[in-house]
Amino acid sequence: MQVTMTVNGEQVTRDVEPRVLLVHFIRDHLGLTGTHWGCDTSNCGVCVVWMDGEPVKSCTVLAAMAGGRSVRTVEDLERDGVLDPVQQGFMEEHGLQCGFCTPGMMLTARWLLDHNPDPTAGEIREALSGQVCRCTGYENIVRAVQWASRHEAAGREPGAAGGTR
Ligand code: FES
Ligand code: FES
Repeated sequence: MQVTMTVNGEQVTRDVEPRVLLVHFIRDHLGLTGTHWGCDTSNCGVCVVWMDGEPVKSCTVLAAMAGGRSVRTVEDLERDGVLDPVQQGFMEEHGLQCGFCTPGMMLTARWLLDHNPDPTAGEIREALSGQVCRCTGYENIVRAVQWASRHEAAGREPGAAGGTR
């Protein structure tokens, strides 16, 4: 069957088998391998992308179900060579070790900060609770999101673009 959707702002059309999952469509048909695939049980969350502005586990969605929808992957976080503050935060606060969970973590963090610019540590943990990190113990991931929150807040204040750490 033929599926058409918007991925990172561009319309794409591909012939796929009806059983193809969105995560495999993104990785194998579009070559966007920043979205990872980590389990067969819908538990790990490394496959998170946005669909129509909401984070979803792309291993729980058929590509056919995403037809006509707008999908955003981790590749869309960086714009014109400028990292998203969430990406910068993961770098500054060492929010990753192996990096396998990181794309999904960053997309959920981006969604959280778009909806709640000043989340508490508890709210960050709750937002990320559907995603597993085997490496970090989550402390630095929370700090990374807090770093992004602080720097986005600083960016909104006139004359304070440098932010606070
Ligand atoms: S690949 Fe593990 S939840 Fe999607
Ligand atoms: S950094 Fe390795 S799984 Fe999270």
